[in-house]
Amino acid sequence: MQLWIDTGNLEEIRTAQSWGVIDGATTNPTLIAKEGHKDFKGVIQEICSIIHPGPVSAETVTTTAEKLIPEAHEIASWAPNVVVKIPLIPEGLKAVKVLSGEGIRTNVTLCFSPAQALLAAKAGATYVSPFVGRLEDRNEDGMRVVEDIVDIYANYGIATQVITASIRDTLHVTQAALMGAHIATLPFAVLKRMYDHPLTDIGLEGFLADWRKLQES
Ligand code: G3P
Repeated sequence: MQLWIDTGNLEEIRTAQSWGVIDGATTNPTLIAKEGHKDFKGVIQEICSIIHPGPVSAETVTTTAEKLIPEAHEIASWAPNVVVKIPLIPEGLKAVKVLSGEGIRTNVTLCFSPAQALLAAKAGATYVSPFVGRLEDRNEDGMRVVEDIVDIYANYGIATQVITASIRDTLHVTQAALMGAHIATLPFAVLKRMYDHPLTDIGLEGFLADWRKLQES
């Protein structure tokens, strides 16, 4: 299973990358805006160089195939490891069909149902991103949606990879792994929490204290 980092914060990306457990990165316009980045191309290129050769998703901001296709061409030219994020709307999937025929990697985003994920696969998406947390915010079972998509893709040998997105906590990550989702993309805070267990801290404290006692005896 791949773990990606979901942020527009360069320091978080550098730190996560230095830990050696990250395979890729995702961004969206909200995450980029949160960091105040005005130079979208520059920041995506920087993330691509930090994460290289892992994939980095950069999102389109138009809504017709006519505009999405040239926008995707432009984004795809920024770095060899960039993946173009396209919204799951009819015009978006029309663009994905053309782009996949051209060998451009796409991440179909804003997916909230298995039916939508099936359409993304039919269009030739490289990745599809079901948004777990946002479904749970509406009292819907986000992880069930991920499980159904994974099962449906497996039934037909579909190559589109499932990115568990809109993750709120570590349980989402382990559930995604158990379900066989290909990727989980995590906020930095969730990645940090994956390391945490009180017994690790207590155990380490005990080992070091005993070691110190031995040196002093
Ligand atoms: O990048 C897509 C997704 O992970 C966003 O998550 O927290 O805004 O629902 P969130």
